[in-house]
Amino acid sequence: MDFGSDNMAGASDKVLAAITAANAGPADAYGGDALTARVREQLAALFEHEVAAFLVATGTAANALALAALTPPWGSVLAHEEAHVAFDECGAPEFFTGGAKIVAIPGEGGKLTPAAVAAALDSQPPRPPHTAVPAVLSLSQATEAGTAYTPAEVAALAAEARRRGMAVHMDGARFASALLRLGASPAEMTWKAGVDVISLGATKNGCLAAEAVVVFDPERAATLPLRIKRAGHLVSKSRFLAAQFAAWLDRDHWRDLAARANGAADRLAGELQARGIRLAFPLQANELFAVLPLARFEALRAAGIDLRRWPTRSLAPAACGAGEVVTRLITSFATSDDDINRLLAGIDRVG
Ligand SMILES: Cc1ncc(COP(=O)(O)O)c(C=O)c1O
Repeated sequence: MDFGSDNMAGASDKVLAAITAANAGPADAYGGDALTARVREQLAALFEHEVAAFLVATGTAANALALAALTPPWGSVLAHEEAHVAFDECGAPEFFTGGAKIVAIPGEGGKLTPAAVAAALDSQPPRPPHTAVPAVLSLSQATEAGTAYTPAEVAALAAEARRRGMAVHMDGARFASALLRLGASPAEMTWKAGVDVISLGATKNGCLAAEAVVVFDPERAATLPLRIKRAGHLVSKSRFLAAQFAAWLDRDHWRDLAARANGAADRLAGELQARGIRLAFPLQANELFAVLPLARFEALRAAGIDLRRWPTRSLAPAACGAGEVVTRLITSFATSDDDINRLLAGIDRVG
């Protein structure tokens, strides 16, 4: 039992079986294999759109390389101040873009609004050649607070970005969980709402290590093959990355996995709330941010329950009173009822 991250779960049996099946015989390397071609077709079908798709092994690579395809080195990338690209990627976006500037914008519940984006841009009027050129708006779906943008919210943000001459990137590390909550189609959540490129995350949702940079306008993808190689992310035995995606996309396996993660999150949220523990943010994917008095949190930890204190940074203060702390609990496709029962038993024991 570990609710620290959905990265702590293993991979789905179907994905593992697909990797084993892909092991038979030789296959072309560096993305030239039949499985990679099949995944490109599957992704085009999933998004109901022509796509250029590139498979990489980490979400950080997907994000940083996607951004690099969308901004010149002198561009700026606007993102929520808690966004993974702004806070958790050790400067990879800045590195791979050749020095683009990340502009971190505050927003309640991990979300940006068109007004906040406009305010950030208007507070720094362009003074060429002194100011970076606004180039990309990056949205996390789901957000770092476990909330999700509706397609209408994405569309409004994308319209603001477009109006300012910027492209739109979506960090979809938890895209599947958010999508299921909203009942939207992948197309409605992305290109139909104005998203140019999505980093489609599969690792947190049942793959072993597989993320896709999905580009809706092939012209924007022109430099990506070179960027990916140069970044050390052109995997030679690419069939094993593709095998994961092929199985994940086959017969909507990704949906089943995300539904399990979301279902576990729903049950856990209900049980916590029944015990007087409130959530800092609405549950709109598979991440819960539970608010606990510091003393109760410490007592639970002292009793051996592996709760981690989530840095409140900018997100939680509004939701978190004096003397309270926030702990992040993430469910995955692998979270069982027993896992939840054990956590609840511990909470009930300590009180
Ligand atoms: C919102 C978000 N984006 C991207 C990533 C991908 O990161 P990694 O490079 O660890 O695969 C993560 C992982 O925690 C994440 O939470």
